[in-house]
Amino acid sequence: MTQRVLLIIGGGIAAYKSLDLIRRLRERGANVRVVLTRAAQEFVTPLAAGALSNDRVFTDLFDLDDEREIGHIRLARDTDLIIVAPATADLLAKMATGQANDLATAVLLATDKPVLAAPAMNPRMWSHPATRRNVRQLEADGIAFIGPKAGEMAERGEAGIGRMAEPIEIADTATQLLTERPSSKTGPLAGRHVLVTSGPTHEPIDPVRYIANRSSGKQGHAIAAAAAAAGARVTLVSGPVTLADPPGVAIIKVQTAAEMLAAVEGALPADIAIFAAAVADWRVATTAGQKLKKTKGSAAPTLALTENPDILKGIAARSPRRPALVIGFAAETESVLAHAQKKRTAKSADWIVANDVSPATGTFGGDWNTVHLVTAEGVTSWPPQSKDEVARLLIEEAAGWLAAHQTEV
Ligand code: PMT
Repeated sequence: MTQRVLLIIGGGIAAYKSLDLIRRLRERGANVRVVLTRAAQEFVTPLAAGALSNDRVFTDLFDLDDEREIGHIRLARDTDLIIVAPATADLLAKMATGQANDLATAVLLATDKPVLAAPAMNPRMWSHPATRRNVRQLEADGIAFIGPKAGEMAERGEAGIGRMAEPIEIADTATQLLTERPSSKTGPLAGRHVLVTSGPTHEPIDPVRYIANRSSGKQGHAIAAAAAAAGARVTLVSGPVTLADPPGVAIIKVQTAAEMLAAVEGALPADIAIFAAAVADWRVATTAGQKLKKTKGSAAPTLALTENPDILKGIAARSPRRPALVIGFAAETESVLAHAQKKRTAKSADWIVANDVSPATGTFGGDWNTVHLVTAEGVTSWPPQSKDEVARLLIEEAAGWLAAHQTEV
């Protein structure tokens, strides 16, 4: 990557990670210029950012020298990509409403270059309807997002979705955006938003144990990659997996079903939603605050379970803002087709991709899959093939359906 990146650092505790991001981008060969908002300067200094970027740092819209030598219009245009990290709730709100009352927002309003935002904020601020509205607006305006991630916040005792993505992940996504293939403008899903869930969920029992399943995320990740290759803007909501992030995809990493639901809702609207994740049907009713102890002579603990929200069912039943095409999966170990057909109607899905996950099939974790596409019209059984090929065919079918129905979100 011998490209120019303008990094706008917003005012949040995650700003310190953006110093590492400068290093990661430069390691990839990028020339990095930095703009610090006034609030960002409470967390990191222009001196530190300048030392790492090996360039002067820009802070003030009304700095006459800057305006004469290199005004905000030039800053906005003399770059190949703008990264906003951390993108605070305030900065996102200003971007969504087109404000330009400081250097960062003026640059963002004046640019015609791709913009990647890495949000970071308190989970309640991220899930607030105002932030959700702003993010939807910015996505519709073509802003790419990475994160936020689920996890512990800097504030003691706060956890949820709101952590900024790691610098290395932001740098990887930046590289993808800078080298994006032309198919993103021209493929059959160009201009469409595809939402995919993938992988297992982990439901905590106590701080060290959890309930999980055998999903590797291979099938869901392959679908996200196929949708991106078909030109879609893709949001992949992934449970804990050990796979590499698919190229050209905005990925939100979660642990639990509740976090997956919040991330899916936050990513809407979408033209197509594909639910390939193996979401735990139940979670432990009360997660223990401390590790459960084995005490000599006492009985083994009994875990009381409670039902998790059904993400597919909830999204398929919603109105307005139901994705035009909702595709679920059915993972079965017996009577595969009968169960899949029941699931399609019970969950109001348009299509169900049914697969046998009995251990002998090797579907969980393997590279191959044998699936049946169940629709209102009937069942089509596909031959055994790689998960990549299943993904490519499914996306081809979905793109064909969307084109035939000419729907727009
Ligand atoms: O990840 P791999 O190792 O590649 O394996 C792929 C796979 C077997 C996980 C995948 O092909 C698959 O079948 N995914 C769905 C797994 C599953 O949970 O199926 P289910 O029959 O229990 O659920 C039916 C549908 O409801 C699924 O679309 C599921 O995502 C969705 N669901 C289920 C429960 C829940 N609480 N929320 C949901 O959204």
